[in-house]
Amino acid sequence: MTCETTSDRAGVAGLFPPSAAVVGGRLEVGGCALSDVAERFGTPTLVLDEAALRARARRYVDGLARRWPASRVVWASKSLPVTAIYRLMGEEGLGADVAGGGELEMALAGAMDPANLVLHGNAKTDAELTRALAVGVGLIVVDNLDELDRLERLARGPQAVLLRVTPGVEAATHEAIATGHVDSKFGLSPRDLAEARRRLAGHRHLRLEGLHVHVGSQITSTAPFVAALEAIAPLGDFPVYDLGGGLGARYTDADQPPSVEEYLDALTGAARTLLPAGATMLIEPGRSMVAEAACTLYRVVGVKRQATRRFVAVDGGMADNLEVSLYGQRFAATLVDRVGGGDTYALVGRHCESGDQLIDAVALDAPAPGDVLAVPVTGAYCLTMANNYNGALRPPVVFVRDGDARAVVRRETYADLLARDVPA
Ligand code: LLP
Repeated sequence: MTCETTSDRAGVAGLFPPSAAVVGGRLEVGGCALSDVAERFGTPTLVLDEAALRARARRYVDGLARRWPASRVVWASKSLPVTAIYRLMGEEGLGADVAGGGELEMALAGAMDPANLVLHGNAKTDAELTRALAVGVGLIVVDNLDELDRLERLARGPQAVLLRVTPGVEAATHEAIATGHVDSKFGLSPRDLAEARRRLAGHRHLRLEGLHVHVGSQITSTAPFVAALEAIAPLGDFPVYDLGGGLGARYTDADQPPSVEEYLDALTGAARTLLPAGATMLIEPGRSMVAEAACTLYRVVGVKRQATRRFVAVDGGMADNLEVSLYGQRFAATLVDRVGGGDTYALVGRHCESGDQLIDAVALDAPAPGDVLAVPVTGAYCLTMANNYNGALRPPVVFVRDGDARAVVRRETYADLLARDVPA
């Protein structure tokens, strides 16, 4: 029996969580052979290495606290809104960024302390604000003056707020996930910021704690984060600065995002010269917290040769992973029982459009119908944006750890698809 750790391996196996190993030719994560997980839970399935998730959460919390003791890590829960993960993050000492009422309810169901929640959204409804105020959400991040009007009316007791600033920072990422530029739909322009500050200064219940900034997602250099700090630091001295999320994940060997430590060094290094020494720093990592702890398992349904291309079609696609078609994200893949490459194939999904392609060219070792295939680094935003295209059933979420696999979310069923129909 061979047993090698994936950290020794270049290529696709090295993109799986650190617990991954090839044992007797079979790829394992968290001590579980992925083909066994596929057999037991079906496909597609989102598999999460629980130890990797906890380790990443601690690496963030400890790494930030070591560099900036007055700090809090607030997980951007939009990246993987699953009750069990809210619970896990709470257990590891993190708070959560909740964008809207649905994420707020999931965070509460996951037993997170409302005081550790930060409410976001550029179009929060009265119902969402009312609920957040009622449950005692720690911070409400005000995006615009209309929201402030409503919050001023709705607040019946003390509530801490941050103001979201539009910093005028262009981050090099896909334009759909850049948020810090002038003319962004997010945040307050300098003029509106000044008005919001004036109004908050005179409000009975609302207390301005500080500023928030978030410049975008899948950012692969530290420069935009520092630029954002430089943009907000001159706006005054506040007790709290929430610097948002955005650190990129490593989806393929071609990606070289800064490590968590390099990112924290850059933020806290800049903060030491730019922010008041006693200020509390919050960060809101989403993608970089969860992406690399997961992979998606599919089953190969067909292999086909066309005029100039070979295709492998699997039993999922853009219903469980919109990253490719929406943002051009590049992924890697391997068969789980024959790890690594062979001939090159286009990896495509089962949905009714040519855009439903997971990878345009991936080397696979003699794929055949029935083989289990894994796409690593699918922890962030894949489940978030999963949908029922072509009546697809949204996948289960399975935690693996120490040789144990357990579902924390079950697969949708056809009955679920019919459950909201109103009888005639
Ligand atoms: N804080 C705020 C206010 C945000 O809007 C976001 C992400 C984050 C933190 C976390 O950013 P991260 O660390 O995950 O980059 N649907 C897109 C991603 C949109 C990100 C939205 N906001 C995707 O699938 O790639």
